[in-house]
Amino acid sequence: MEKKIKDLRERAGDAIKNSASNLKELDEIRVKFLGKKGELTGLLRGMSQLTAEERPIIGKLVNEARAEIEQLIAEKNSELKAAELKEKLASEKIDVTLPGRRVHEGHLHPLTLTLNRVKEIFVSMGYTVEEGPEVETDYYNFEALNLPKDHPARDMQDSFYITEEILLRTQTSPVQARTMERHKNNEPIRMIAPGRVYRRDDYDASHSPMFTQVEGLVIDKGISFADLKGTLEDFSKKIFGEKTKIRLRPSFFPFTEPSAEVDVSCVMCHGEGCKVCQGTGWLEILGAGMVHPDVLKMSGYDPSKVSGFAFGMGIERIAMLSYGLDDMRLLYDNDVRFLKQF
Ligand code: PHE
Repeated sequence: MEKKIKDLRERAGDAIKNSASNLKELDEIRVKFLGKKGELTGLLRGMSQLTAEERPIIGKLVNEARAEIEQLIAEKNSELKAAELKEKLASEKIDVTLPGRRVHEGHLHPLTLTLNRVKEIFVSMGYTVEEGPEVETDYYNFEALNLPKDHPARDMQDSFYITEEILLRTQTSPVQARTMERHKNNEPIRMIAPGRVYRRDDYDASHSPMFTQVEGLVIDKGISFADLKGTLEDFSKKIFGEKTKIRLRPSFFPFTEPSAEVDVSCVMCHGEGCKVCQGTGWLEILGAGMVHPDVLKMSGYDPSKVSGFAFGMGIERIAMLSYGLDDMRLLYDNDVRFLKQF
């Protein structure tokens, strides 16, 4: 029995040291010697045949053998684990000397920046921001604005028609009528309506068949032309700088009476006369006027009780003036060399 135990110890030690090349093999060796059906357990079973004096001696030897084998297994186990880790580290090595791939941070488009600035200014004056559809009916785009079907002023705003009655809106002015219709009892309105508009137009340095407008509409008791002028002067100073002056020239829009084109003193030369303002010292930035009584009536307002003013500006033009751009197409071409400058 003692010899058997000694032999088992040697064989186990040898197997652990020399033939366990990975954790799985080591575990197989553990099962072979120490498992429930393993060799050491087998020896323990044979103890019943021993005498009472022999039993404790052999029992002690068996326990020592178990302890020793367990110890050897534990040692080999950590050895194998360390080797495995080392191998893993070597095979998964990352070459940190490779140049990284740069993530370029994007930002808002100059047109969006300009639009946001315009919105901010009017919101700070208590205006709400309204929206209307870009695919609009003939009624809202023209008729509700005092432009009946055969009106010659429609010629200036030829559009893309979907049917006789549905078109891509040529202006943001239809949002005036849509907003008025949502109010009752001559309720005051102070709103702007930003959005895209479409016209059958060329695509050159100062035209595009699609562009962006911001409409403005104010209705209340006793609104006068002076309110319109004051508002636009305030706006112009906020967007182009405190020194900016404005000038109103008589004009015509079917939905406003009287109507005006509004110029600001040239943002480049401040009135001296330069290339940008073609020597005049002034730049046209918007159309405006007092809301025509018929327009108020058509959308449910009583022109004997309230009055209002309206204006409409092109955001591309404002962006070009504030950033000093000489070609409108830069805003649509999506050239990063241009866009990253903002
Ligand atoms: N809708 C007009 C245009 O696109 C601008 C405008 C708006 C004029 C409101 C007067 C009042 O030309």
